[in-house]
Amino acid sequence: MLLFRSRSGSVDEDEAVRFLEEFHAESGAAARAPARQRAVREEIRRTGTYRHTPEELEYGARVAWRNSSRCIGRLYWRSLRVRDRRGVSSGAEIAAECVEHLREATNGGRVRPVVTVFAPDGPEARAPVIHNDQLIRYAGYPGHLGAGTGDPAGEPLTRLATRLGWRGRGGAFDVLPLVVEGRGEPARWFDLPADAVLEVPLGHPELAAFAGLGLRWYAVPAVSNMTLEIGGLRYPAAPFNGWYMGTEIGARNLADTDRYDLLPAVADLLGLDTRDEATLWRDRAMVELNVAVLHSFRKAGVTITDHHTEARRFLSHLAREERAGRVCPADWSWIVPPLSASATPVFHRLYQDADLRPNYVHRAP
Ligand code: ARG
Repeated sequence: MLLFRSRSGSVDEDEAVRFLEEFHAESGAAARAPARQRAVREEIRRTGTYRHTPEELEYGARVAWRNSSRCIGRLYWRSLRVRDRRGVSSGAEIAAECVEHLREATNGGRVRPVVTVFAPDGPEARAPVIHNDQLIRYAGYPGHLGAGTGDPAGEPLTRLATRLGWRGRGGAFDVLPLVVEGRGEPARWFDLPADAVLEVPLGHPELAAFAGLGLRWYAVPAVSNMTLEIGGLRYPAAPFNGWYMGTEIGARNLADTDRYDLLPAVADLLGLDTRDEATLWRDRAMVELNVAVLHSFRKAGVTITDHHTEARRFLSHLAREERAGRVCPADWSWIVPPLSASATPVFHRLYQDADLRPNYVHRAP
């Protein structure tokens, strides 16, 4: 008789135990460790999986942030609010919980880091799926010869939502619906209520004409296409958010040529000579665009941080982690900001990187 039949999708026992060891050591509960580890091994052998206690889940979700080597904003990893919604698995309930997540995270503009954890993958049932790559995203409508509208990064979801019956207004900043597959359900779309989506219209402190561009961005970046991995368990539906660093919007989302591609329009507004690269019109436009983003969020009372402040905070985080006897894994190419890189202290050194668990890992598109 085959006693320990390996099931497909069964949780790796050793990974579970490694996580529990770390959890008990870091939370000062070493006395409880042996009994819990035995119980979890037994649960995995019997059912192919196990359930995290609420404390393990909270700790795991926070350490997953701490281990995210691409994130410059990890100083506050302990403050992550963890919403345990593992019992929620229907599409409609998941959508409602995502809306609730956005309200709690938005907090009237004083943005709070939040993660909502839905049911994990298991040997019996697959986890629910959130098709959005962020809870809030703008639609992208492709056009001929680069004459599209909206955010090209939103095109795949716009296509999917449209196929399911959603109708976009064809604007530059149409908020996409959530597209959710509850456990054992087909994909459905759910509009986000307008009062759950805080947005900031962009103006410039000195250039009155800037507001005429009609630009805006949303307050809460809530990543929803990464799987939270803790102790061998996978939570593919686990949207999380922090607050924005200005360059994400001003030097990437609005500036990248395969996103809103706005540097030429901003340069025109500034009266720069765009025929000659050596005028550095791109660089000057990018700085003013970033000034507009930071200024507008501040004026609207919405949490945002600049890359100089955040770079310094990251180095304090790194020093703090080292004092705690841990390596702080970091990926230079992501940590260094896309604007004025060498004017920030994170540029001038190297980092150790490591692919630790718990972590938030990208799911295949
Ligand atoms: N870079 C992404 C964006 O611009 C958001 C990624 C998460 N960012 C954050 N500050 N937590 O939408």
